[in-house]
Amino acid sequence: MAEMKKMELMEGEGFSSPSCLLPSLEGLEEIKPGMLATRIVNRAMRQASGKYLSLRPIDRDRLPAPREGKHYLLYAHVPFCSTLCTYCTFNRFLFEEEKARRYFRSLRQEMKMAYELGYRFDSMYVGGGTTSILVDELCATIDLARELFPLKEVSCESDPNNIDKETMAHLKGRVDRISVGVQSFDDDILKRVGRYEKFGGGEETLSKLQALMGALPVVNIDLIFNFPTQDEKMLRRDLEIIKRLSPTQVTAYPLMSSPSVKSLIKRSIGDISLDKEATLYRVILEELLGEYNQISSWAFSKKGDDIIDEYVVNHDEYVGIGSGSFSFLDGVLYTNTFSLKEYATRIESGKMGLSRARKYGRLSQMQYRLMVGLFGGGVHKESFSRQFKMPIEVGLFKELLFLRCAGAIREKEGVLYPTLKGKYLFLSMMKEFYIGMDTVREESRARLSSEDM
Ligand SMILES: C[S@@+](CC[C@H](N)C(=O)[O-])C[C@H]1O[C@@H](n2cnc3c(N)ncnc32)[C@H](O)[C@@H]1O
Ligand code: SF4
Repeated sequence: MAEMKKMELMEGEGFSSPSCLLPSLEGLEEIKPGMLATRIVNRAMRQASGKYLSLRPIDRDRLPAPREGKHYLLYAHVPFCSTLCTYCTFNRFLFEEEKARRYFRSLRQEMKMAYELGYRFDSMYVGGGTTSILVDELCATIDLARELFPLKEVSCESDPNNIDKETMAHLKGRVDRISVGVQSFDDDILKRVGRYEKFGGGEETLSKLQALMGALPVVNIDLIFNFPTQDEKMLRRDLEIIKRLSPTQVTAYPLMSSPSVKSLIKRSIGDISLDKEATLYRVILEELLGEYNQISSWAFSKKGDDIIDEYVVNHDEYVGIGSGSFSFLDGVLYTNTFSLKEYATRIESGKMGLSRARKYGRLSQMQYRLMVGLFGGGVHKESFSRQFKMPIEVGLFKELLFLRCAGAIREKEGVLYPTLKGKYLFLSMMKEFYIGMDTVREESRARLSSEDM
């Protein structure tokens, strides 16, 4: 969930996150199991995902050129892991060194193509998979990016096995933010989701993390909550450990089950309960809001520290390179091929990895920006209206009416903020959106033969 950290707020663009979520726990009791508003938005999001996330094959060699005055983020995907966790639907393959080295070479070629098109990025997000699985290749890729583009920030994702001292010495000065997947410190959960054997138990993970603290300017820890066997006590224990560890950022994702992993999750750990999700979200807010500021519905940043937030939140438009990456440009969503073989062949013949696309109308773009903006902390009404050349109250009349009636938003000085109840609602919407994106990945991966992997 690349899928996504302060890169900066988009000044001069039509939209920016005010990053000023209501700081108190006022209204926490409004987050209730079985909330009607959540059920309504979840159903609406599922319908919208089915309609809007079906992408068509395209026949074009390269992405369109950048538009004057726009800021774009560069997203680079590294789809290799040393183990495949049962719940994960990201585009990832079991690591094989030769394949991965060839892949990194293609990735750098595709980056040069974006440069030739005229893109000049100031932020880069390297997502996975496990991006530091071959640290020399990762460094060569970041060095090339820093040579081509005026990068101010680079963020990378990794797992608990690829964050050792030596790896960090390579990344120092190259990477500003590292995000490590922990998911839980509970050994039973780690065993059930297929991580214990590869990454060790909670104690072992904790000592790896202790050694990592302070190695780079920002360290983010990913947790997942609402595993079927997880109760409130287990989650509080995870959060207590996190608070003692005190990383710069914490991201707490609700367990997302897209169709293909649903049965795997059910077999390995049980059925997911939506009611429990709401209760556990309250626990997260209770435990973290004393020491952390909330920077999106699921991300928290240590009070007083700079934030690097989800790239989809703070960047209206982005270019994705690598197999299975997404780009969003001028109202069009593009995906690159999920086949490693086809990706390499396209790059060798001078083409970008493009495979499918879908264009969105103004209303769906406005709805998307409203959802992402409120998920990320708030929406400036005036800049939103400037971007879409229409007052937000006119363009999204029905949506705002629903959110106000549901008690999900408040307005102050021209900015719409989510209430605590709203934060949970937008977390839920974002979860459905990610599940929809996972469905795109699954559909594309279902077409792959063993040769493509
Ligand atoms: C793409 S992964 C990369 C992290 C790294 N490979 C690791 O697992 O340690 C980024 C994060 O997405 C989250 N994630 C992956 N699948 C998820 C799911 N089904 N539900 C909720 N979060 C998920 C996990 O928290 C994970 O750390
Ligand atoms: S959670 Fe991380 S390690 Fe596990 S399969 Fe997904 S990307 Fe790979």
